[in-house]
Amino acid sequence: MKARPILERVKWLGAIDWDRRLFDALIPLPDGTSYNAYLVEGSQKTVLLDTVDPPMTEVLLRQLESVPRIDYVVSQHAEQDHAGAIPAVLARYPEAELLCSKKARGMLLELLDLDAYRIRVVEDGEALSLGDRSLKFIYTPWVHWPETMVSYLQEDRVLFSCDFFGSHIAASELFVADPGRVLEAAKRYFAEIMMPFRAVIAKNLEKLEGYPVDLIAPSHGQVYGRPSLILDAYRDWVLGEPRNLAVLAYVSMHGSTRRMVDRLAGALVERGVEVESYSLPETDIGKLAMSLVDAGTIVIGTPTVLTGPHPAAAYAAVLANALRPKARFLSIIGSYGWGGKAVETLASLVPRLEVEVLDPVLCMGLPGEADEQALDALAEKIAAKHAEQGFAKRSERNRFD
Ligand code: FEO
Repeated sequence: MKARPILERVKWLGAIDWDRRLFDALIPLPDGTSYNAYLVEGSQKTVLLDTVDPPMTEVLLRQLESVPRIDYVVSQHAEQDHAGAIPAVLARYPEAELLCSKKARGMLLELLDLDAYRIRVVEDGEALSLGDRSLKFIYTPWVHWPETMVSYLQEDRVLFSCDFFGSHIAASELFVADPGRVLEAAKRYFAEIMMPFRAVIAKNLEKLEGYPVDLIAPSHGQVYGRPSLILDAYRDWVLGEPRNLAVLAYVSMHGSTRRMVDRLAGALVERGVEVESYSLPETDIGKLAMSLVDAGTIVIGTPTVLTGPHPAAAYAAVLANALRPKARFLSIIGSYGWGGKAVETLASLVPRLEVEVLDPVLCMGLPGEADEQALDALAEKIAAKHAEQGFAKRSERNRFD
């Protein structure tokens, strides 16, 4: 695909990766992804913002064949999906200087085959004149690594945001055309790589309020012609209260834990709590991560396997611990054959979650009447806790009727 203009002097370059299905050997990509770079041509200087994933280097170099000179390459983020082709671009343009944040300098030198003398650190808030245009660099750490920054093209009010506000979508249209699809993909992306850093991201959002923006051009997915779409969504994901939602993530080997989950789900719904339930071995973990963005309570369901939790349940606990969602309550339910330490082991896997642990419900074999009553009592407790906290259901937050 050739370079394409998003404005008169701003071009999209990069690669659309229609077939990629996994990122970081962890994150499912149901819609593929793209690696976006942007070329800004000022009256005196030309800048390339970010590059592409190393296997796509040739795609970018072909797009650059008609660009005789690049004065600056900006690395907004050192991860290889954006920085990986920088050495090839610098080799093509020996006059180009590589600009990056203070923290990025060391990371780029560690991760890529680069000469240190080609790199110049830019300060937070520093402006770069391109002649009739100017770029301002704004440090925005932890979107997604500590060195990340964004760039603001002042005259055209374009924010180049790299991973920040990005979405893993492969699409031929440059601009967002289907907001629902993009918001879902962007939420998945936020959940998987940024959710743990909400406090810093809140500060970044506040910092960006001083910059009027007409376009947001991320380095994955489509360009936002209506920035409020993604800015409002981020404010909700980062700053909003959890929803009146219980996320049930469970494994069942012979149906006992499954029966407990069904009972709990029914009891929660009867008490006005939303439920999103995931059978772990088959689950797309991206969907689970998206649910965790909003959950008020997390319930992990597990059978006891060789004295501990099922490994898939342990995986979900480790994932939740890493993502640090804003849920305030956690419980564990499950079935065992003769004993074990499933609850203790699972509880030890989530030390970073700031949750109140509600009494677990465990039963031997199939749940009996007393176990079902215990599950109803757990549902009652969850509903009461959510009411105390003032959590609202999705339908109470967004009414379309
Ligand atoms: Fe798209 Fe953190 O790289």
